[in-house]
Amino acid sequence: MKLNLKKRHEPFKFIQTDYFKPFVHLPFTNKSVTRYYQLTLKKVKLSPDGFERTVWSVNGQYPAPIIRANKGDRMIINVENRFGDPAAVHWHGMLQHGTNWYDGVPGQTQCPIPNDVSFIYNFTTGDQHGTFWYHSHFMAQYADGLRGALIVHDPDDPYLKEYDYEYVITLSDWHHRTTGEILPNFISPTYTGRRPVPDSPLLSGRGRYNCNGAPDGSKCKPNAPLAVYNVKKNKKYRFRIINSAADAFFIFSIDEHKLKLIESEGIYIKPTIIEKLPINVGQRYSVIVNADQPIGKYWIRATIDKRCVLINNATINFNSSIDWNGLGILKYEGSKNDKPKSKEFVENFKICRDLDPKHLTSSTQGDGIVKAVMNNSSFIPQFNDPTITKIIRHIPPEELPKEQNSLIFDNKNGIVEIALWNNNTDEHPFHMHGHVFGVMFVGEKNEYPDEKKYNKKNPVIRDNVTVPGFGYLVIRFIADNPGIWAFHCHIEWHVELGLVLQLVELPSILMNETIPNDASSLCFKNDYQKKRNPTTPFHNRERMFNPVIINEIRRDINKIR
Ligand code: C2O
Repeated sequence: MKLNLKKRHEPFKFIQTDYFKPFVHLPFTNKSVTRYYQLTLKKVKLSPDGFERTVWSVNGQYPAPIIRANKGDRMIINVENRFGDPAAVHWHGMLQHGTNWYDGVPGQTQCPIPNDVSFIYNFTTGDQHGTFWYHSHFMAQYADGLRGALIVHDPDDPYLKEYDYEYVITLSDWHHRTTGEILPNFISPTYTGRRPVPDSPLLSGRGRYNCNGAPDGSKCKPNAPLAVYNVKKNKKYRFRIINSAADAFFIFSIDEHKLKLIESEGIYIKPTIIEKLPINVGQRYSVIVNADQPIGKYWIRATIDKRCVLINNATINFNSSIDWNGLGILKYEGSKNDKPKSKEFVENFKICRDLDPKHLTSSTQGDGIVKAVMNNSSFIPQFNDPTITKIIRHIPPEELPKEQNSLIFDNKNGIVEIALWNNNTDEHPFHMHGHVFGVMFVGEKNEYPDEKKYNKKNPVIRDNVTVPGFGYLVIRFIADNPGIWAFHCHIEWHVELGLVLQLVELPSILMNETIPNDASSLCFKNDYQKKRNPTTPFHNRERMFNPVIINEIRRDINKIR
């Protein structure tokens, strides 16, 4: 699609979103629409859970505004960086066909946007539709606030008639200290703790902190307002649920209302009914909720599953006053102003694991063995010279710095299989940029991947999957998207320890492309290498950490299933 030059001057729309207002899809037209959005990155003081802190906001709000489009639309998004720190925005789940340089990953697809610089991301939603999100991909910045929802509506949505309104729910963990304070401690070679413990779970940016735990001199208001979702009796609502946490595995449910699951990460699935939804970092689901219960108020539960969190006494914030049980309210029109007295569903799933694949059946439909190890290799980005510019300078992919954990695929439309072994007790939510993949196999400890056990009939298709502790994962995808694509654990603390690799996909095509000037010029505007901002310290990666071993990559398997 060509850019209409006249339209380019249309003003960017400064959006703000009330997450508690129901909406319907944007008007469907038979032509693709170009949507201009303005995202201004600015530090503001907010108190999502009652405790006031500096938040790296988008347009002054947290969570960041909901960006919406229809299938096939073009998104032209002006990111104006006023953070005082470098930044970059990644559009989690958008495939970025032909626009790798707008994927938003410093060190891989772009140089960071320096402070006081605006940068325009310009990409099409293509055939994609569903529930996505966007967040900073610069250091741990998204945990400080830069995370919001991105929704692509679909005129051909097979479930369109099954719901009256939509809502978005973002789940996030929340820290009272900034990542600029947490990170240096966490990555220091002498640190013996586990992952930092949050202070609150937030449901669409709201939570309630017990202010008795707040340090002297801080501002904390008890009984902060909870998230309230208003419904009308007998109407049906599509809730789009996004786990935008830095770390937390959430369990989501609405008391006395079953959830009809229809989408996982942009893929329609055969509807199934569940009561509780386990959702790991980076994952998204859509559920339809029928407001068919007696008029009243019901708890919405967004519980951080602390069974998936290991804490020792050396852990940052180990004595947090967190209430792990995040709450919101589903409020029927006409209900009284009292507290919900609703009853919680009983859980019936395996803890710290993805939802059983039986709920995730999609409703749509070579062979050289290469060993590549990620063993003891922590990813170290070169922010001032991202991989994409190296490839376009015709540096042979084999000569990329070793600590950039490159997996190179150069056979167009070849099928790639990645088998991964988790050599560590933690489970890891792995996310791939630029692709959805088929989940061929997920194995627990000692359940080795064996092709006979692959789910070739109806593999779950998604972009974000949980690898069990000491377990295995096998995925397949088609090499059809030239670019540098991150493949990483979405626990932000693990990213900061280097649990990242990059797919170098179809480099012989990529190297002949031209990066738009505005994107490449970012690399000349940066002085962040010299001027280290104290709020975004640079990594100390002496403490090597790499529990994940890619034990096998197979290219050009003849069938995806
Ligand atoms: Cu949510 Cu590398 O992405």
